[in-house]
This record gives sequence, structure tokens and C-alpha cells, in this order.
Amino acid sequence: MLRRAWLLASLFSVSLWFTPALPAKGTPKPVPSHQKAQDFSKFLAIPGAETAGAEQCSQCHADLSRTYRRSPYSMQDVACEQCHGAGSLHVASGGYSADSKDKIISFRDRSAEQANGVCLSCHAKSDHVRNWFSSAHQTQGIKCSDCHTIHAQGHGEQRAVESRRQANDNCLRCHRKQNAEANLPYHHPIREAKIACSDCHDPHGGSAGNNLQMSNTNDLCLSCHAEYQGPFTFQHVPVTESCLKCHSSHGSPNQNLLTISQPALCLQCHSAHHNGSSLPLVDRCTNCHNAIHGSDIPSATGGSKFIDK
Ligand code: HEC
Ligand code: HEC
Ligand code: HEC
Ligand code: HEC
Ligand code: HEC
Ligand code: HEC
Ligand code: HEC
Ligand code: HEC
Ligand code: HEC
Ligand code: HEC
Repeated sequence: MLRRAWLLASLFSVSLWFTPALPAKGTPKPVPSHQKAQDFSKFLAIPGAETAGAEQCSQCHADLSRTYRRSPYSMQDVACEQCHGAGSLHVASGGYSADSKDKIISFRDRSAEQANGVCLSCHAKSDHVRNWFSSAHQTQGIKCSDCHTIHAQGHGEQRAVESRRQANDNCLRCHRKQNAEANLPYHHPIREAKIACSDCHDPHGGSAGNNLQMSNTNDLCLSCHAEYQGPFTFQHVPVTESCLKCHSSHGSPNQNLLTISQPALCLQCHSAHHNGSSLPLVDRCTNCHNAIHGSDIPSATGGSKFIDK
């Protein structure tokens, strides 16, 4: 009791300490919503219930308890009731119905805020999840359990962090536009599971636009396509500006993931030049300008025409 009083007192003084300008009495300063949500323990509370212990749960949920203990991932040390709340009232009611819903936490039936609150009671500060409150997924009421399967089905091969293929399929289930793009003739090998959506996006949100893993899109592209990193003596201006001036990120009907096929792509910015015999060269421009991402080789007329032959 003493200890608790001390804690409360010190908490109170700490809050004073960090509140330079106290608002007028009775009108507490509004707390930003993301800070309000920091008290996640309330999402685990089941009024009146006490801890029953995992052995109790296994009496009635034998299969599930077995697969959980055998599951390969690290969370198997987390006890049932750390996610589902204290179970004594649920055990006493012997089942789950409309009347007894509030006696155990079901991730299916609780709102996204409530369900995610449970996971965040442990994970709010983990590197992966700390951006959650700035994510479109949070705003749209997506649940952690929409992407993470806690209970293995079958023989425990399913993991909280899925294989690349499973994770991609899961993203594509909701993102129909990207699903269509990933099926275009030229695409990042997402369907082939050589690359994951989460290689480029942080599914938990982030400060970068479109929740990209890096705030500079070119840095992201170059993290895998380092051969175009340069520095080149002669840079092609749009390449340094943004790869997306010429390439689509997910998929395209055009070869090499180009937004528009050649020569139209180049003709957006250049006029087609004429060769010696005055014939317009409306061709695949990169047949000759093969070093389109930059070059160290100067041309006779100065600068570089990005022809490395
Ligand atoms: C006396 C038997 C019994 C015990 C003991 C028991 N449960 Fe249940 N529980 C049930 C029944 C019956 C249901 C409803 C049918 C089902 O979903 O399996 C249920 C449903 C649930 C659900 C909701 C499932 C849903 O629909 O989303 C959860 C979560 C749950 N139990 C967790 C636990 C936990 C955690 C423990 C241990 C603290 C526990 N149960 C102990 C009988 C029991
Ligand atoms: C890390 C959090 C976590 C732990 C620990 C956990 N569960 Fe669950 N449980 C979930 C989530 C999330 C769901 C919702 C279904 C899903 O996505 O897998 C769920 C669903 C359930 C269900 C209903 C789903 C069904 O298939 O009938 C039962 C019953 C259940 N859990 C019992 C247990 C028991 C018993 C334990 C301990 C052996 C346990 N849970 C441990 C998170 C957890
Ligand atoms: C009682 C604390 C606790 C709760 C509640 C909890 N976790 Fe965890 N979780 C852990 C621990 C501990 C680990 C293993 C160490 C680590 O990776 O941080 C872990 C690991 C994970 C991992 C990585 C698994 C792997 O194979 O590496 C995922 C994903 C995850 N948790 C998701 C969830 C989700 C989703 C929920 C809510 C349904 C949840 N956790 C609830 C404590 C918790
Ligand atoms: C849109 C799908 C999606 C949602 C929603 C989601 N996650 Fe994840 N999560 C992933 C993917 C994919 C990974 C693995 C890739 C990575 O490292 O980013 C991951 C990784 C993790 C990890 C780290 C595992 C490790 O050890 O690398 C934790 C912990 C985790 N998630 C917890 C959560 C929690 C808690 C929530 C809810 C607040 C949540 N996730 C919501 C898709 C999701
Ligand atoms: C349960 C459905 C669902 C799943 C699964 C899902 N998303 Fe989303 N996602 C949404 C919704 C809804 C939005 C908000 C509307 C929109 O922008 O399309 C969204 C938005 C996004 C955005 C846009 C963010 C922004 O700033 O505009 C990205 C990027 C994204 N999701 C990536 C992913 C990735 C990567 C995965 C898999 C790891 C994934 N999503 C899985 C439903 C889902
Ligand atoms: C090679 C990196 C990369 C991969 C892999 C990737 N994306 Fe993207 N994504 C981007 C970039 C860059 C943007 C922003 C430019 C744009 O809109 O194309 C973006 C934009 C988005 C957007 C928001 C824009 C919109 O059109 O709604 C969503 C949603 C999205 N991606 C989902 C996904 C999903 C789902 C996957 C996996 C199926 C995925 N992305 C795989 C790079 C990637
Ligand atoms: C996580 C690694 C990764 C990132 C990040 C990445 N890519 Fe790729 N990219 C690949 C892989 C893998 C391939 C397929 C290569 C193959 O099949 O030989 C590829 C292929 C391509 C291709 C050739 C497609 C074709 O049809 O020949 C282009 C163009 C491309 N990426 C552009 C980009 C752009 C632009 C970005 C930034 C938005 C980007 N990549 C980010 C891994 C990545
Ligand atoms: C000015 C337009 C333009 C810009 C900007 C651009 N590219 Fe390209 N890229 C092309 C063209 C055109 C091709 C096809 C080359 C060919 O026909 O040989 C190509 C091809 C590629 C390929 C496939 C090459 C292969 O060997 O299969 C990759 C990967 C690639 N670009 C990555 C990038 C990256 C990364 C960036 C940003 C740093 C970028 N591109 C910026 C026009 C561009
Ligand atoms: C988004 C606009 C844009 C696109 C698309 C573009 N370029 Fe460029 N390009 C430039 C700019 C800007 C310069 C530098 C200014 C200049 O010298 O005209 C340049 C320079 C060049 C040069 C050197 C010109 C000189 O006089 O030294 C060549 C050659 C060239 N581009 C070829 C191409 C080809 C081939 C394509 C298509 C694969 C292409 N460009 C697509 C904007 C673009
Ligand atoms: C048959 C080979 C060939 C093809 C195809 C070709 N070019 Fe060229 N291009 C050249 C040569 C050679 C030069 C002059 C190099 C020098 O000055 O040293 C040049 C020069 C240029 C220049 C610099 C300004 C100028 O007019 O001299 C631009 C811009 C350019 N090309 C754009 C394009 C575009 C856009 C396409 C596609 C519509 C294209 N080229 C197709 C060979 C070609």
C-alpha cells in the first residue's frame, strides 16, 4: 500500500515536472490520441476475473494448447492469458456465447482497437511496431491478427511471421490494384516470392510516403539495384531525380517495368533526333543509348550521349 502511494505520488510529481505551463484548474490539457492509447494494459482487463493457468485452458482447448506449445516461434513462452485475459470467469461459464463474450478476449469479436491493444501491451515499443499509429492500416481498423497467425493450424508449421509467399498473398488479398499489377507481363517478382511487399513497405507504417522502408525512393531502389548507383561522370538527370520517372514500382505491360514503352518514354522529354540522312530515328532509343542510367564515357561532341560501346 505504502509502495503504491509512493508510486502515485512520484508519478504525480513527474507529471508536474514535465508540464511547464499548467492549464487552468478543471480543464486538463487534451492528451494527443496516440499518447492516450499508450495505456494498453486496460485492453487486457476482464473485470472480476483471476488467472486460471494454462493447464486449465488445455482441459477444454486441448488441440489448440498442444499446437501452441509446439509452435516454432519465440512467443510460445507467452501464456494464454497474457493475450486472452484472466480466464477464471470464462472457465466457470464453461463456454463462449453472446452472454459470456466479455469473460474472455476473443480477437475475432473485439474491435480492432481492443484486439490490437492486447498485442501492443507488449509490442508498442518494438522497432517494428512503433510506427503503427501513423499507418494507414491502423486508421483503417486492420488487426495485427489480419497479418499474424498466432495459432498454428495443422502441425504447427504456420508462424507468426509467415513465409514470403504467404505474406505476399496475404497483402494481395486486400490490395486488388497491386494484385492486378503483380500479374502484368513485367513485374517485380512478388508472385514468384523472390521479393516481399515488406522489402519495400513497412506494413506497420512509417514516416515515409506510402509507408516505404526508406524516405528516399531512389535509395530504396538502389539498395537492390546497386549497379545504377554511380557516381557516374555523366548523370542522366531524370535517373538522379527519381527512378519512378521511367519505371513502375509493382508491374507494367511494358518491358523493363517501364511506365511507357520506348520511344514514347524518351520522347516525353526529348525530340527525336535525325541521323545523317535526315531519317527520323523512332526506334528503341536504348539500342544505341544503352547506358541510359549514366555513363563515364564522353561523346565526341561533349557531355555524354549515354552510348557505351
Ligand atoms: C470448461 C471448458 C473451458 C475451459 C477450461 C476454457 N475454455 Fe475457452 N472456451 C470453451 C468453449 C466451450 C468455448 C466455445 C467454443 C470454442 O470456441 O472452442 C470457448 C471459447 C474460447 C475463446 C473464444 C473463441 C472464439 O470464438 O473466438 C477463447 C479465446 C478461449 N476460449 C480461451 C480460453 C482460455 C485462454 C482458457 C484458459 C484460461 C480457456 N479458454 C479455458 C471452454 C473452455
Ligand atoms: C500472443 C497472443 C496469444 C496467445 C499467447 C494465445 N492466443 Fe489464442 N488467439 C490469439 C489470437 C490473435 C486469436 C485469433 C485467431 C487467430 O488469428 O489465430 C486467438 C484465438 C484463440 C481461440 C479461438 C480460435 C479458434 O480457433 O477456435 C482460442 C480457443 C484460443 N485462442 C485459446 C488459446 C489458448 C488455450 C492459449 C494458450 C495455449 C492461447 N490461445 C494463447 C492470440 C493468442
Ligand atoms: C505478453 C507479451 C506479448 C503479447 C501480449 C504479445 N506478444 Fe508477440 N511476442 C512477445 C515476445 C516475448 C516475443 C519474442 C521476442 C520478440 O521477438 O520480441 C514475441 C514475438 C512476436 C512476433 C515475432 C515472432 C517470430 O517468429 O519471430 C510477432 C509477429 C508477434 N510477437 C506478434 C504478436 C501479436 C500479433 C500479438 C497480439 C495477438 C502479440 N504478439 C502479443 C510477447 C508478446
Ligand atoms: C499488413 C500486415 C501486418 C499488420 C497489420 C501487422 N503486421 Fe507485424 N509484420 C508483418 C510482416 C509482413 C512482418 C515481417 C516483415 C518485417 O520484418 O517487416 C511483420 C513483423 C512483425 C514483428 C517482428 C517480427 C520479427 O522478429 O522480425 C512483430 C513483433 C510484429 N510484426 C508485430 C505486429 C503487431 C503488434 C501488429 C499490430 C499492432 C502488427 N504486427 C501488425 C505484417 C503485419
Ligand atoms: C485486411 C486487409 C489488408 C491487408 C491484409 C493488408 N492491407 Fe495494406 N491497406 C489496407 C487498407 C484498407 C489500406 C488503406 C486504403 C488504401 O490505401 O488502399 C491499406 C493501405 C496500405 C498502404 C498505403 C499506405 C499509404 O500511406 O497510403 C500500403 C503501402 C499497404 N497497405 C501495404 C500493405 C502490405 C505491404 C501488406 C502486407 C504485409 C498489406 N498492406 C496488407 C488493407 C490491408
Ligand atoms: C520494389 C519495391 C516495391 C514492392 C516490392 C512493393 N511496392 Fe508498393 N509501392 C512502391 C513504391 C515506390 C510506391 C509509391 C509509388 C507508386 O505509387 O507506385 C508504392 C505504392 C504502394 C501503395 C500506395 C499507392 C497506391 O497505388 O495505392 C500500396 C497500397 C502498395 N504500394 C502496396 C504494395 C503491396 C500490397 C505490395 C506487395 C504485393 C507492394 N506494394 C510491393 C514500391 C514497392
Ligand atoms: C528488395 C530488392 C529490390 C528493391 C528494393 C527493388 N527491386 Fe527492382 N528488382 C528486384 C528483383 C529481385 C528483380 C528481378 C530481377 C530478375 O528477375 O533478374 C527486379 C527487377 C527490376 C526491374 C527489371 C524488370 C524487368 O522486367 O526486366 C526494374 C526496372 C526494377 N527492378 C526497378 C526497380 C525500381 C524502380 C525500384 C524502386 C522503386 C526497385 N526496382 C526496387 C529487386 C528489387
Ligand atoms: C530516363 C528513364 C529511366 C530512369 C529515370 C531510370 N531508368 Fe531504369 N531503365 C530505363 C530503360 C529505358 C531501361 C531499359 C534498358 C534497355 O532497353 O536496355 C531500363 C532498365 C532498367 C533495369 C533492367 C535492366 C536489366 O539489366 O534488366 C533496371 C533494374 C533499372 N532500369 C533500374 C533503374 C533504377 C534503380 C533507377 C533509378 C536509380 C532507374 N532504373 C531509372 C530507363 C530509366
Ligand atoms: C523526364 C524527362 C526525361 C526522360 C523521360 C528522358 N530524358 Fe534524357 N535527358 C533529360 C534531361 C533533363 C537531360 C539533360 C538535359 C539535356 O542535355 O537535354 C537528358 C539528357 C539526355 C541525353 C544527353 C543529351 C545531350 O545533349 O548530351 C541523352 C542522349 C538522353 N537524355 C537520352 C534519353 C533517352 C534515350 C531516353 C529514353 C530511354 C531519355 N533520355 C528519357 C530528361 C529526360
Ligand atoms: C541508331 C542509333 C541511335 C538511336 C536508335 C537513337 N539515337 Fe540518339 N543519338 C545517337 C548518336 C550517335 C548521337 C550523337 C552522339 C554524339 O554526339 O556523339 C545521338 C544523340 C542524341 C541526343 C543528343 C542531342 C542530339 O540530337 O544530338 C539525344 C537527346 C538523343 N540522341 C535522344 C534519342 C532518342 C530520344 C532516341 C529514340 C527516339 C534516340 N536518341 C535514338 C544514336 C542513336
